[in-house]
Amino acid sequence: MTARRWARFPCTSKPRSCEATRARRGPMNAETLELPIRDTRIAELSVKQVLPTPAWFLAARGDELPRGAPLARAVNGVPVVLYRDSTGRVAALEDRCPHKNVALSLGRVRGDTLQCWYHGWRFNRIGVVVDVPCHSPTEKIPACAVRAFPAVERDEWIWVTLGADGAPAEPPSYPRDDAYGWFELQNVIHAPVDLILENGLDCSHTGFAHEGLFRSAPRDDIRARIEETATGVRVETLDEHSAGAKDVRSVLGRRQQIRHVDEVILPHTLRVDYWIGDHAHVVTILVATPEDEFRTRVYTRMGVRYGWLTPLVTRYVRWVTQKVVAQDIAILNSQGERIRRYGRREFRNVTADLPAAWMQRAFRGFLDGRYPSGPLRTREITYKL
Ligand code: FES
Ligand SMILES: [Fe+2]
Repeated sequence: MTARRWARFPCTSKPRSCEATRARRGPMNAETLELPIRDTRIAELSVKQVLPTPAWFLAARGDELPRGAPLARAVNGVPVVLYRDSTGRVAALEDRCPHKNVALSLGRVRGDTLQCWYHGWRFNRIGVVVDVPCHSPTEKIPACAVRAFPAVERDEWIWVTLGADGAPAEPPSYPRDDAYGWFELQNVIHAPVDLILENGLDCSHTGFAHEGLFRSAPRDDIRARIEETATGVRVETLDEHSAGAKDVRSVLGRRQQIRHVDEVILPHTLRVDYWIGDHAHVVTILVATPEDEFRTRVYTRMGVRYGWLTPLVTRYVRWVTQKVVAQDIAILNSQGERIRRYGRREFRNVTADLPAAWMQRAFRGFLDGRYPSGPLRTREITYKL
């Protein structure tokens, strides 16, 4: 800020010059107070978004946001505070008070408004300041606001989009079918979104990173069909059987045919389906929300259908999944740390990495606004699994 500007707004800082100016002009009045806080540019400022796309991002589970208490989240790199108004509807505001930049999530919910902890300014659900408790008798409420974002609660998940332009009209829907047993996990992983999606799509690590738990050591040649879709990449693993070992696929599969499809839905979602025999089905929906470039919050929703054994098998799948996810987190944290330390990625892909390579190509194209472009491709590969 220039010296000229300080002279114009004498009471925003610099106490000595402020005193001098006050002595020249006489006592402060409402006009001099209003000038600096009428500066509304703060409402337009924002931190850099991690993924340059106007998608809907998963910000929280519905049951994480009770009435009366705000919740702080970082959504695609932007600090966001969520709260419920008096009707229970979710509001999402940028988590920075326009008065002195304290996090609004430290404050409290008052009726339909959110009140900042520091000086008690209150904001409505569209971010407009509606009350400044310490004001002079003639002072108007300053014309400033905090950014408000569209927020939708759907299927027990709260979705937020940071830029209305270009985002789909509604967030995706992942309802929980009553015929299934369901559970959810939430983890913070110190790795970028695309490496987390790649991990979910990568079968060739499962016989090692999760040996004896999820899959056993590679044994048979299997085929996989990789397809580009309008929304990402789909990989169907063909010829897959349970191996008769003690891992979860063999226990549930009991030597039956397994149909296994992984699908990345850009820019942040992975869906995994295992159909076992004619009736059993395990579905995973993983949604990754970047908090910063190397920190991602991952929401996992899993459903299990296994006939009359569904409740028991759901508990078993949950137990195994928690162990498998802990192993993946350790690996992804290590991968993220090494890439950060070396400042770059240097990957050497083999045939089994082609699903991940196709996903990476689609991911980068999507972020550049170039995917899909041209005819969608398909390819079949064979590798030992
Ligand atoms: S910093 Fe929020 S009211 Fe002052
Ligand atoms: Fe894994």
